[in-house]
Amino acid sequence: MSEEEAVFQSQQMDQRIDINFKDEDEKLILIEINPQMVSKELQPQFQLLNKIIIRYLNYALQPCLEIEYRRNELKISSYKAVVKLDDKRVVMFTNSNNQLIDTQGIWISLNKKTLDLRIGYGEARVETQVSHYKMDSVQQYIQQITSVIIWQESIPQQILPFLMQCQKGQIRPIRIHSKDHYIAQLSEVILQKCQNILELHQGRQALHLSTEIDNLYQSVQKVELQQIEQLESPQYLQKGAKFNLGELIHHSVAIEGCKLNQILKKKQAANEKSGFDPYMTYLRLGLGHFNKDSAGHQFVLEIWPFKHYSTIHDHAGQYGLVKILQGVIDVNIYAILSNAKHLMDPIKTLTCNKHDMTWLAPRVNQVHQLRNFYPQTAITLQCYKYSQKTQNKMKQFNYVVNEQYKGFNPLSDFADLELHDIFNDLVQEYSNLHKQKNI
Ligand SMILES: [Fe+2]
Repeated sequence: MSEEEAVFQSQQMDQRIDINFKDEDEKLILIEINPQMVSKELQPQFQLLNKIIIRYLNYALQPCLEIEYRRNELKISSYKAVVKLDDKRVVMFTNSNNQLIDTQGIWISLNKKTLDLRIGYGEARVETQVSHYKMDSVQQYIQQITSVIIWQESIPQQILPFLMQCQKGQIRPIRIHSKDHYIAQLSEVILQKCQNILELHQGRQALHLSTEIDNLYQSVQKVELQQIEQLESPQYLQKGAKFNLGELIHHSVAIEGCKLNQILKKKQAANEKSGFDPYMTYLRLGLGHFNKDSAGHQFVLEIWPFKHYSTIHDHAGQYGLVKILQGVIDVNIYAILSNAKHLMDPIKTLTCNKHDMTWLAPRVNQVHQLRNFYPQTAITLQCYKYSQKTQNKMKQFNYVVNEQYKGFNPLSDFADLELHDIFNDLVQEYSNLHKQKNI
């Protein structure tokens, strides 16, 4: 089973959650709180939430370890000691009105064999770890653990299921996920030198990536701009004349009045009108038709002019692969998508060069921001795929801008236009401009 996926068991917290911890050495538990998914009318009830309890039990149902995720405090109790943490990243935090408004979440990993207890925020990975304890002094109790129960007692039980209901396709207000091991450190960049997935990252990464990413990789590993040129070029060009699609795109987006430049200007104006940075724009060209296996188009060509960048966004819980076809793209990766400023420092920054690929999974690398800080217009191919096991297919991506949590539909900026139509237009545009120059 793949390392980054390993089938998370996901549950909504509208009842007590029981997790078996008998035959495995390790158990990872993630708790997500998304208060902005609760309707205004139900907020007063939701705001009663002040504690979620995670209790580790032995076969006789006696507590061996207890962790309380509370407002302003995380409390760890064992037979030997009580430890309280007040790091804002791993406590339930509130705004100045004492309300749980911001998206937040913690993860807890306990290994009964190595006696490691790790606690962090957002995605469960090395970069988000906040505390690490060696539980040597309570070894005998830790080794006796056979189950975990999770519950809350601040919201009345009869209200909770009602509160947890929300429209299909939306993120639930409280979610608990568990799986059998901690996520190992994986490289976020798939290097272009590899011929197939078995060679990735000197053969190590391939063992850990899921079949969904493998499928996407097989679909796009050979795709280059030259190949798209051959497939999509206007018929009259295929006989001899050659145009470089990357150059045509760069030309059209960079020169005032050209086709892509006009579309970009429109998007920039819309951003300015909404009070957002006009550079927080890029062009999306959906390839092929909508696909039920992905939110929107499964394959999208994205065009990144110099200095332009995306919002910080998630990917509707999908698997994804981003391949750099031209230029250089910097990628910031985040632990969580939250309107809380203190959670939104990047946990990693990558520079992806031409031919590189970076990947994302439902709970690894899911939140990112792409930026082009280089003069050449960058072109990327994004590919998305839901897990076959995904039942809650959210069609919306979410993003955070100016500390506001928002949703957007990942639509194409070229509605009803196929790539070969656009290619044709760009060739005409380029030829006309050169004719004018030569007069
Ligand atoms: Fe993205």
